[in-house]
Amino acid sequence: MANLPITQFEEKIIETVEQNPVVVIIGETGSGKSTQLSQILHRNGYSKSGIIGVTQPRRVAAVSVARRVAQELGVPLGEEVGYAIRFEDRTSERTLIKYLTDGVLLRESLSNAELNQYSVIILDEAHERSLNTDILLGLVKRLVKMRASNLKILITSATLDGEQVSKFFSNCPILNVPGKLYPVEILYSKERPKSYIDSCLKTAIDIHVKEPEGDVLIFMTGQDDIEKLVSKLEEKVRSLEEGSCMDAIILPLHGSLPPEMQVRVFSPPPPNCRRFIVSTNIAETSLTVDGVVYVIDAGYVKQRQYNPSTGMYSLDVVQISKVQANQRAGRAGRTRPGKCYRLYPSKVYQDDFLDVTVPEIQRSSLAGSVLYLKSLDLSDINVLKFDFLDPPSFESLEDALKQLYLIDAIDENGTITSVGRTMAELPLEPSLSRTLIEANEYNCLAQALTVAAMLSAETTLLLSRSNRTEKKRKHTPRDLPDGSGLGDHIQLLQIYERWDETDYDVDWCRDNDLQVRGMKFVKDVRKQLSQIMQKIAKGSLDVRANQSRKGRQQDYRNLRKALCVGFANQLAERMIHHNGYRTIGFKPQLVQVHPSSVLRTDEEGMLPNYVVYHELISTSRPYMRNVCAVEMLWVTPILKKLEKLDINKLSGGVSHIGEGTEETLAEAPKKEVDVAGLSNDRESKIQAARERFLARKANK
Ligand code: CDP
Ligand code: MG
Repeated sequence: MANLPITQFEEKIIETVEQNPVVVIIGETGSGKSTQLSQILHRNGYSKSGIIGVTQPRRVAAVSVARRVAQELGVPLGEEVGYAIRFEDRTSERTLIKYLTDGVLLRESLSNAELNQYSVIILDEAHERSLNTDILLGLVKRLVKMRASNLKILITSATLDGEQVSKFFSNCPILNVPGKLYPVEILYSKERPKSYIDSCLKTAIDIHVKEPEGDVLIFMTGQDDIEKLVSKLEEKVRSLEEGSCMDAIILPLHGSLPPEMQVRVFSPPPPNCRRFIVSTNIAETSLTVDGVVYVIDAGYVKQRQYNPSTGMYSLDVVQISKVQANQRAGRAGRTRPGKCYRLYPSKVYQDDFLDVTVPEIQRSSLAGSVLYLKSLDLSDINVLKFDFLDPPSFESLEDALKQLYLIDAIDENGTITSVGRTMAELPLEPSLSRTLIEANEYNCLAQALTVAAMLSAETTLLLSRSNRTEKKRKHTPRDLPDGSGLGDHIQLLQIYERWDETDYDVDWCRDNDLQVRGMKFVKDVRKQLSQIMQKIAKGSLDVRANQSRKGRQQDYRNLRKALCVGFANQLAERMIHHNGYRTIGFKPQLVQVHPSSVLRTDEEGMLPNYVVYHELISTSRPYMRNVCAVEMLWVTPILKKLEKLDINKLSGGVSHIGEGTEETLAEAPKKEVDVAGLSNDRESKIQAARERFLARKANK
């Protein structure tokens, strides 16, 4: 791998790193930033005084890059080179180079604020602007002051505005690693296709039939579309006349692919064979697939956004930004001149695409991040004044504070509580952490652990209803438990308990359309969460999966009570004369129970009066996903608390002004002032992009 562009700059890199605590490195995707930088620093002695840590925003990238580096160094993965992602740690005492998700590094800084085990921290893929990387940027900024003598920070990016980051770090040096990028011919479509899948299919086959050899990379929005296109492509390729063109291999690439399937894209194709890689935007910058000469870009990406004023998530297919479009095109020119087929007119690119991607911090719920910042024992950090590269909106900070207050993580003055500190120790979203703590009080921790683990693994686990293997089935299974009418959380609990009864039989999973890999993951996550809870409780808690002290119904009731406390901010009340619910909180709105829910009506045909939900998701209309029936009795204290809630006090109470040491939100500026303050001198492209984006969304 010695001929990757970055390795030619080894001396220059080392020289700059020697002389500066922070260095920004900009280099084309595929130039070797992720795989080589850590090795360069290792070769030059930086792993002698500590671990070289490299963060990745994506789990898949952390695993795949670590595997690659271990291979290049000829060591077994998990020894000198390892990785750590949430719920999976493959490092050892001997680890010198450690790839980890940005979330895991944040968590590590909770127990060791100065991150003393590291001699170097590389914040990789900073251009992705993930929420956690943005927070790390702020934390690292103060860390370099404290550990100036023995910590080196490298920030790498493919496209990031290097100036902005450099300015953020007192004008630190920027190293540009020129990649050898061959020219890429851009071919625009005359109009936007009606079906982008069909249009991708047609373009791919055209290339296969007419163009000389070279692999084809196709960007899709998600796993479902990838599967659809893969099977259509397979069919089409098979129907081509034998000998009319070369062989073809069609490979999917996305985050929930099993590891052995993921590595397939890194092995070169047999001779006289063209590969079609059908990928999510994971191949845009995180993973570099060699051999690509043709790129098909429909101009879309699936993006999860959070709206703080409604508490609602949406998973929207949105247009990519110009930066993304250029990244995608660039993938075609790594080994020789290539072509990029944009399935949209150049006018769309010019007029409709935003210049840059909206950073995640400006489209996420911040409850977890705010809790995290508050739980750091750093007296000089004020959440609302935290030094962000691009600050989030005041509204979303306010939303986070409100949620944290309702679930007792902060008190009415905005100060973190002891419950809040405990919550921060759990690698879960605040509402689930709170549920576990409460469940422990009600003797139903074992059940709550199961539910938390099932919810954490949901994406890889779920009943593969969409897996079109149904036809091949000999019998219809689906004798899975139904939540006893109480909702989805109870069903998740029952499913796991059923599996536990079979002694974790994999055939049972298969018979019931449960992903074996997903269920095993749940089992592992449950075990890890149990261990953390044991540590927190400093005692021996009974966390066996199938245990019942007072009978199932009583367990379910206790569990629902704990969920009601944990999800106090996600509560809804049934409308008497209306077929639906109204959320309770700041800005109530009408919602429905998602059709996939197992929540049932009672003998009188009534849905429960109150439910808590795991998330609000806006698809064709606002739905509550994963709902659980709760009782009036438990809701009353929440309503009382809501009445008392004073957001001004939470974010700008008077009691702490002047104390200066306690980390509170006391000095929070007034709303109007703050919003203006956010957008003054750092008025960046992003701010403008975000506004245009929101305006367009509102017009939709
Ligand atoms: O981080 P950056 O985009 O600059 O490049 P990289 O990820 O370090 O990739 C450098 C080279 O390593 C590329 O040619 C990749 O195809 C290759 N690579 C690989 O073969 N297997 C991996 N798991 C990761 C990278
Ligand atoms: Mg990389």
